[in-house]
Amino acid sequence: MPEVSHRPPALRPCHLFARLADGGAVVLRPLRPGESQVLDSVFAGLSPEARRSRYLVSTPRLTSSARRVLAEVDGRDHVAWVAMVDGCPVGICRSLRTGGDAAELAFEVVDAEQRRGIASVLVDAVTTVAHANGVVWLEAYVAPGNEAAALLLSRLGMTLTLRDGLFEGRARLRLMEPPRVDRRAVLRLAAQAAGPDCEDPQGAGTPKPPAG
Ligand SMILES: CC(C)(COP(=O)(O)OP(=O)(O)OC[C@H]1O[C@@H](n2cnc3c(N)ncnc32)[C@H](O)[C@@H]1OP(=O)(O)O)[C@@H](O)C(=O)NCCC(=O)NCCS
Repeated sequence: MPEVSHRPPALRPCHLFARLADGGAVVLRPLRPGESQVLDSVFAGLSPEARRSRYLVSTPRLTSSARRVLAEVDGRDHVAWVAMVDGCPVGICRSLRTGGDAAELAFEVVDAEQRRGIASVLVDAVTTVAHANGVVWLEAYVAPGNEAAALLLSRLGMTLTLRDGLFEGRARLRLMEPPRVDRRAVLRLAAQAAGPDCEDPQGAGTPKPPAG
């Protein structure tokens, strides 16, 4: 009679490493449903100006309903990925389906970690997953003067138009060139993260990328 193992199935690491423009690295992983503490952590690292840029209105704190909605990810219509440095969440990018084959893109990186290339890798990862999920049209809203966001969106094929004091864009999604992440690894991880055998994300913080 075959022996029955009572050992729990091995958990797989559910993160990947991405190299940054400044030579460093970050850990990237999908946000899990209900992980609102990750949202709080990133929000705490945003200056009042950065919060306004992200949410387009003065946002001194995230309300309970906003936290709930932002954490209601499903990996398909609502995809969000987190970047982590030394175990701390430092940035989030999300794609939220607005209907059919269109989705709105939004992203933020804590002030202390900006201009390292973190938004670039996050945006590439999330748009890669969104594209694989059938998103063809990308939409975004950007406050006037937000050059970094406008630049990132232009790299996805988007031109912004000023309307009622706000820049908005809708464009056929074009993935960034050159890629900022290993897209095959991103898609593998997106599929794997939907399963039950992922390690505890708390263990996925410290970037120790493989040599080379
Ligand atoms: C927009 C934001 C996410 C960019 O994050 P980031 O990690 O600094 O972005 P990256 O380092 O990947 O930079 C992307 C490009 O923008 C440029 N850039 C970054 N910050 C910039 C700034 N303040 N002014 C001009 N260019 C800037 C970078 O030099 C880079 O260009 P390069 O690739 O040619 O070198 C960050 O500034 C932020 O969180 N802002 C507040 C929230 C927000 O505005 N969200 C967008 C609306 S949804």
